[in-house]
Parts: sequence; structure tokens; C-alpha cells
Amino acid sequence: MFLKTVRLQLRFLVPLMVTLIAAAYLAVPLMDQVTLRWFSRDLNSRGLLVANALSDSVSEAMAAGRTARLRPLFQRAEQDERLFAIGLCSVDGKLLERTQGFPGTLTCPVADEISSKAEPRLPLPSGTVHVGVHDVMGRPLIPGNDTPPDAQAEPPPVFMGRLVLLHDMSFIERRSQDTRRYLIGLIAGLGLVIALITVVVAQLSWRGWVKGVRAIMRGEGLLSPLIPAPELAPFAAELRARLRDMEDEFRRSQGPETGWSAERLRTLLQTQLSGAQVIVVSNREPYIHERTPEGIVVKRPASGLVTAVEPVMRACSGTWVAHGSGSADGDVVDAADRVLVPPGEQDYWLRRVWLTPEEEQGYYYGFANEGMWPLCHVAHVRPVFRESDWETYRAVNQRFADAVVAEARGEDPVVLVQDYHFALLPAMVRAKLPQATILTFWHIPWPNPESFGICPWRREILQGMLGSTILGFHTRFHCKNFIETVDRYLEARIEHEHSTIAFHEKETLVESYPISIEWPGEAEVSAWAPVAECRRRVVERLGLPQDACIAVGVDRFDYTKGILERLNAVERLLEKWPSWVGRFVFVQVAAPTRSVLDEYRSFQERVQRLAQRINLRFGRPGYQPVHLLAQHHEHDAVTEMFRAADVCVVTSLHDGMNLVCKEFVAARDDLQGVLVLSRFAGAARELPEALVVNPYHVEETADALNRAATMPAAEQRERMASLRSTVREFNVFRWAGRMLADAGRWRLRSRIEARVRRHQNG
Ligand code: F6P
Repeated sequence: MFLKTVRLQLRFLVPLMVTLIAAAYLAVPLMDQVTLRWFSRDLNSRGLLVANALSDSVSEAMAAGRTARLRPLFQRAEQDERLFAIGLCSVDGKLLERTQGFPGTLTCPVADEISSKAEPRLPLPSGTVHVGVHDVMGRPLIPGNDTPPDAQAEPPPVFMGRLVLLHDMSFIERRSQDTRRYLIGLIAGLGLVIALITVVVAQLSWRGWVKGVRAIMRGEGLLSPLIPAPELAPFAAELRARLRDMEDEFRRSQGPETGWSAERLRTLLQTQLSGAQVIVVSNREPYIHERTPEGIVVKRPASGLVTAVEPVMRACSGTWVAHGSGSADGDVVDAADRVLVPPGEQDYWLRRVWLTPEEEQGYYYGFANEGMWPLCHVAHVRPVFRESDWETYRAVNQRFADAVVAEARGEDPVVLVQDYHFALLPAMVRAKLPQATILTFWHIPWPNPESFGICPWRREILQGMLGSTILGFHTRFHCKNFIETVDRYLEARIEHEHSTIAFHEKETLVESYPISIEWPGEAEVSAWAPVAECRRRVVERLGLPQDACIAVGVDRFDYTKGILERLNAVERLLEKWPSWVGRFVFVQVAAPTRSVLDEYRSFQERVQRLAQRINLRFGRPGYQPVHLLAQHHEHDAVTEMFRAADVCVVTSLHDGMNLVCKEFVAARDDLQGVLVLSRFAGAARELPEALVVNPYHVEETADALNRAATMPAAEQRERMASLRSTVREFNVFRWAGRMLADAGRWRLRSRIEARVRRHQNG
């Protein structure tokens, strides 16, 4: 690093020194010439002064013809250190008098000639002298006239001769040498000062530039308070563009956006993430072992999260850390609380974390489902925040984080954190595994900053989530809400253009990844009963009229799902079009969920009461308009229900995505069936061919039910074909693939930055 800076500085210093030496080389003779001219002028003036001072005595002596008496005067004058010799010339150019130093070879005409030159110098063996010739003017004496001159009339002065003054020039030589020394010293000193300033400024600028470039590479821009490097501003855009190009190239190397499959996801993991270990962490486990009188049975939970993540895990192997909630979960695990799943296939490890009833109450029922769930869903249920729940939530997050760290085989696994149960976990894992790539996916909506602001621990939750490398939501709208929330409550640097948040020197990408389902493969489809057979079974099982129009709803029994609103719409349909009475049947599959909570219990009771009221009002022998099946249905039973239905009704009041509607579409390979879908479910953005409704608007939803029930087969086919192509293409492997591809890109960028850092330090 130091050597590099010195090399950089030499690039400035060498030309600087060469320029200064050249300047000195040219300046010294010029300086000599100028000083010589100054001194010659000076000597001329001095000569004139001396000549004037001597002129009276000289003219008198000349007038009297007694020039010999001038010798002592000349000798005195000669004592001036600069006056070398004096000569006196007559009018006709004869040398009348001369002092001792006056050269014998120098005649009056020669002196005259030299003095008329621009540089009147005469070289002598003792050194160069300056030659100055000055006229002597005076009044001649009139013979016999003794009257004092001032009493007579003044005759005009006449030319009486010339004084030749030779000045020693050796002092000029000495002065010139001194000046030369000073000049060279000055230039050398100046060079030294400039060099010093250059070195210091270059050092500082270099550091500033390097920091600036790093900041740009990190995407912090030039506004970072630590990096005042405005010189880099013009390059920032260019650098960014280069990095973007690299990213685009990376994306292109991923291949087309379509055609995502388990195989392709595996390849991506191998190539872009160098086969990194994948660890999923969620509250809900994908397989629940329950003890029954018949022995241990394995159940699949009614969870959109599990539906989506499980196929990804089968493709990637790795480990899934989750709450062991089944009564026989503890019986089937090894000493490290692990079991291979799916049963019989053993594709990946399920690591179970045990919670006490108190922990489950505080963390899961309390903080997660009485606090965060209603906070994030606009379903007009007030969130409840208890200090004790929060403490338990934090402690359980730490327990799961420790389990993730314990499962990590290296220092940089890919950790997929699922949902609102683990808002604090990303920062906890980051603290132990700083190199880990942490992808957090928030399966529920994110509210606006005002709504989120009522959470007493809003800052802690945001800080915990920002431990993630990538933070995923279903829609851009939820990303925007999250970024605005961070902007409101934390001191973080947000780059809206790239959707990144830098907090405590750590950057998080906030991106939308619409979740989906695994598109059913050939083997699964071939095991399905034909649509007519499914219908026959459902009609028979529920005792429906043979010609019934069957509408179904399949949900967890949750107040966000809009089950009351859809029952109101069914009632309105029967009211508005009485011809449907006896023919229109609505089957609601409602998997019991969180029933220990008052809010859920009272909601479930309200639904039951409403269903009964409708049945009382419109039912008749052999006909019951609403069938409420409040029990868990396994995947096959749900598929059968979807295939038997004419209409599927999804009327969530607020939903991150909702996978039920996608499962319905996937089940209808006969291209029949109509989807009625709430505009408040994330899925509505992807599936516009559904009949999109506002579930709060009973009339509109009832009209949509009527339209769905009467839709011609051709229109159904057209809509369903389009829906199916969307869901097939935008499947769960694409969801995971896009996230993992972004993670790979992020890791690549970190590696480039680390390499640049190493290069700089080395
Ligand atoms: O909708 C968000 C979500 O996390 C789903 O992924 C999941 O189905 C459900 O909520 C959680 O349900 P439970 O509390 O029964 O695990």
C-alpha cells in the first residue's frame, strides 16, 4: 500500500524536479546578465559622481598647466575600494596623468572607444574593469589677471579634457555568485516544499479516492459522511455502470426468466453459490409426527409457507430448522434432534427446536400472532403487545439463531429465514456468522410507516431484519412500505434506485419475489381422479344436489381470509337471484388455526353462526347452501375439492400472496372453473384473468359469484389457460431461484470488494 502511494507520488515528483532544474539552468545566466547591466549602470552613475567631485580641482589644475599636483587627489580618490585607477586625458587625447593601477596599454582614444559600448568592460590580468570616460569642463585662466574670478564677468565653461575612471568589477562577480547561490537555494527550497505538499496531498487524496471508490462499489455514493472525495463524482456513474453491467451479465448467465424447475435450481446452487449449504429456518415444520391410536402418523400442515419452501428444500437438500410441534416429533429424531424427511424419500434434514408451552404462548401466540400478525394485516383487528411476549419472542429468536449456527458446516452458509416469527433472527445469525448470506422472506404484507409505528419495539424489529443480506416481500408495494418505515424510524442510508438500505456499515437489498407453488408434475397429475369423478365424490360425500353449482373456499380459519365477507356475498347472491336457491352450494374448508386465541375463537364462532343463519334462511330438505368443513384437509383432499368445484372463492381482506388460488389453477388441467379473487391479495397482481373483487363490497362480490357461476365454458377455458400459463411459469422454483441468484450476485460483489481490499492492503 505504502509503496504504491510512493510510486504514485514519484509520478508527480520526477517531472517537478526536472522542471525546477531546467528553470534554474535557464534563470542563472539570465540573472547574471541582468545584474551586470544593473551594476554597469550603477558604476556609470558612481563614475559621474566621482568625476563631478574632481572636476573643479582637475579643471583648475589643467587651466594652470600643473596637472602633477592632482596625483595626491587621485590617489585619495583611488582608495575607494571600487575605483581601480584614474587617468587624465588632454583635449587632444594625450594621457596627462595616471594613477599606479592604470594599465600602461590603455590610451585615451581606446578608453574613449570602450566607454561608448553598451558593456564598457576591459579585461585585465587582475580582473575585468569598467571603463568610464567623463568630460572635464572649466574656465581657462587669463594670464596677468589677478582679480578674483567671482569679481569678473563669468566666461562660459569650455571642454578641458577627460577623466578616465576604471572601476573594479570583481565585486560584481562576487555578488553574482552570491545571487546564483541564493537563487539555486531558493529553487531547491521551493522544490522541497512543493514536493512535501505534493506527498501529503497525494497521500490524503489517494486514501480519499480509494475510500470513495469503495463507497461507490458498495453503492453508498459520494455522500457518505466519511468519504469526502468529490473528485470521484464524475467517475461514480461510470463505476456504477460497470458494476451494473457485471450484474446484468451475471443475470444473463442465469439463462431465461422462464423454465424454472427443481433441476435448474439445483444447478444454480452448484454454479452461482458454489454448492453452499442451505439452511431454512421457520416456525412451522414441514412434517409433523403425531401419535394416534394407530401409531405414529405424519401430517402436512396447512401452511402456504410450507407449500412453497418444501419443494425448494427437496431440490437443495440442506437442513430445515423448525419448531417440533407434533406429539411424536421427539420420538423420531436422533440425538441431535434431527430427522431425515420427507418420510421414505429422505431428501433433507429437519432439525427440530423444542419450545415449552410458555415459550410457545409468548413467542408464537402472543407476540407473533396477537402482535405482528394484526399489525401487518389491515383486517381491523387491534394488535396486542405485551412486554413478557416480547421478551419470550427475543429469547426464542436467539434459540433458533443458535440452532442455525450449530447446523452451519462452514462460515458462509445460505440461510433462508421465513416470516414474521423471526424478525430478530437475521441480526443474531449475522453476529455469529458474519460471512453468511441471509435471505429473509416476509410472507405477510408490510404495513405503512404510521401503522407499523404503533409497535413499541419497532426499532429493534427493523434492526433485526436488517441483519439480512436480502429482504424479500411478495410485492414492490410492500418493499416500498418497508423502506419508508426504515426511513422513518432508523438512521440508515437508503438508495432508492437500487432498493438497498445501508445500516451500521452493512447493506441489505430489499426486493420483491412473488411466491408461488410447485407446478404439479406428470406423475402427480396422472394420479388425479378425472374431474367428473372428483365431482361425483364430493357431491356424494356432502349430499349435494346433482346439478349443483359448487363454489369452494379453502383457507386457514383466519380473520384475514374474508370468510365472513364471502358468506355475506353468498347470502346476497341467493337473495338477488332466487333461482340459485337449491342449486348454488358454497363449501368452505377451514383448517383450524391459532384457536387458543380469543380473537380466532370468536371469529370462528361468528362464521359458524353466519353459516347457520344462511342455511336456515335458504336451506330446504336435501339442500344446504353453506357447508362449513372446519377441519384440516390433506393435500389430495383439497385437490379433489378444487377439481370438483365450478368456482373457487378467495376473498382475503389482506394477504401477502395467497397460494390457494394458485393451487386451484394448478388443479384444473381441464381448463374449467372460475377464480374469484380479492384485490387485496398479492396474487391479484399476477392473475388478472380472475374475477377480481373488493371483498368489503358485498354487492360486487355477489355479482362476481353470479358471473362466475354463469360463465360460458369457452370463456372459462380462455381465462384458465392464461392463468395456468402464468402460474406454471412463475412457479416456486423461480421464486427461490431469483432470490438465490441475487444472493449469488451479492456474494460475487462481496468477493470482488474483498479482493480489491486485499490488493490495496498488500
Ligand atoms: O401467510 C403467512 C403465513 O406465514 C403462511 O406462510 C402460513 O401458512 C401462515 O402464515 C402461518 O400459519 P401458522 O401460524 O399456522 O403456522
